[in-house]
Amino acid sequence: MEQTTSWFGPGNAMLRAGVFALLILLLPFLPCRAQQQSSGLPQLKKQGTAVQLMVKGAPFLVLGGELGNSSASSVAYMKDIWGTVKKMQLNTVLTPVYWELIEPVENKFDFSVIDSIIYQARSNDMHLVLLWFGTWKNSMSCYAPGWVKKDVQRFPRALRSDGSGQEILSAFSSNNLAADVKAFRTLMRHIHEIDARYSTVIMVQVENEIGMLPEPREHTPAADAAYRGQVPPALMDYLVKHKDSIVHELKVHWSYSGYRSSGTWEQVFGKSIATEELFQAWHYAQYANIVAREGKAEYALPMFVNAALNHRNVDPGLYPSGGPLPHLLDIWQAGAPAIDILSPDFYNPRFKYYNDLYTRRNNPLFIPEIRFEPSDGAKALYAVGHYQAIGFSPFSIESTQKPEEETVAKSYDLLRQLSHMILANQGTGSMEGVLLDTAFSRTEITSGNYILSVSHDGLLGWSGIPREKWPEAGGIIIRTGEDEFIIAGTGIVITAATTDVTAPFVGILAAEEGVCHDGKWVPGRRLNGDQTHQGRHIRIPMGEWCIQRVKLYRYK
Ligand code: DGJ
Repeated sequence: MEQTTSWFGPGNAMLRAGVFALLILLLPFLPCRAQQQSSGLPQLKKQGTAVQLMVKGAPFLVLGGELGNSSASSVAYMKDIWGTVKKMQLNTVLTPVYWELIEPVENKFDFSVIDSIIYQARSNDMHLVLLWFGTWKNSMSCYAPGWVKKDVQRFPRALRSDGSGQEILSAFSSNNLAADVKAFRTLMRHIHEIDARYSTVIMVQVENEIGMLPEPREHTPAADAAYRGQVPPALMDYLVKHKDSIVHELKVHWSYSGYRSSGTWEQVFGKSIATEELFQAWHYAQYANIVAREGKAEYALPMFVNAALNHRNVDPGLYPSGGPLPHLLDIWQAGAPAIDILSPDFYNPRFKYYNDLYTRRNNPLFIPEIRFEPSDGAKALYAVGHYQAIGFSPFSIESTQKPEEETVAKSYDLLRQLSHMILANQGTGSMEGVLLDTAFSRTEITSGNYILSVSHDGLLGWSGIPREKWPEAGGIIIRTGEDEFIIAGTGIVITAATTDVTAPFVGILAAEEGVCHDGKWVPGRRLNGDQTHQGRHIRIPMGEWCIQRVKLYRYK
């Protein structure tokens, strides 16, 4: 639902008119390219229950890694990263584009650095996801150009309740929005010009970890006035329409007023810091929506926003308040229809917990950031297998000294080999993922006629590795025939039972390890004897990463 008439909420008609006027003035310089796009350009498409990223007309799995924040400011620095990321089997690098560097002087754009990076990526057979470090980066506005930072009259800051300023641009300023929109549109127009034929750039992140600190909402006069005003009808209508499907946390919050369908923010949602956060979230979403929508008018690449998660369980404002967080999914979906995906950034161990929350409300899973650590390899398999994720991307990917030894390299190797099969099976119900560790060491998957019990290899007790040192185990299981499975991963042991009462026992007919070349299975060793515990189980030991093709049979 587009919200073109309520950018800043009722009571802010002057601000709205200001932005309109600025954008209308800019229009002649900002020709609309979206109509010229062909279906071969990157886009999102539904397949069954999954959403796939289409690149050059075919589904694509992002085996990604995000650069450290300052890496993409130097062409010389970037030249050295491609060898490293290739050794880790990446197909995509998430790279920042810095507002301060592309528009160092107002209206004077310099794309030389990002152009070089695009050419470097292209010549290294690598795709890019651009991260627009514009108005906000981790709540702050540190990437705003100097001419924005120094002119606080023209580009107002988000004030605290005591009236003090901070280096966070206000979400309630038409000047701030128009300046960001102009830069972002110009960037997207440029990317269209130099890259639409190649699709090196496949997605764009709008801003980075938006969220208010150190209070739940900002206190500029415009924000205070909007907070005293009515909940915008666009949000109210959305909530009323989706009352039975909005996320539980929001529904509970709204229930305190008996689901009022009009009134001020505090009348509808109660007087609390949670309401202040809802309010701030709505205005952030509206702002990001306009940035994304205007960027898409130049080049309609899929666009997403990312969130700093509240894993410490503190109050809004102590964590970045109002970002695209799980309890605010509906606010963001209602306020930012031009944003295609709301993404979690993982710097905490609650991987399943947050992914479960983010895959509500038909939100596709794309993980743009996760701390670069040994558990990533198993987590990538689980994200793709279980959540049908569009992609996965450890942060500061170029920082490793031993790229081939990273678990993500081993995991991406398997995912890359199986990508044809994975993409064909996404959203069809025939693919699953597992993630096991010392605490959660056994799970069960029902697939076709079979019930597969998957355990952490450590449970066998054969390795001598003490439980506290077990690495994360993970896998992808794809049913490729009535009795046939492709199983890829590390540290897993699988036994099978069946739902078939006429032939209630299950045996292994054949197990082979192998590799996939261009989508074709190339068998290696036939596995039996000790490798299958004399026919009792399928096993990929801890520390090993491989693919097996397994045929089962049922008997009485
Ligand atoms: C999350 C941010 O989104 C990244 O840009 C980076 O600052 C990391 N945190 C650092 O840990």
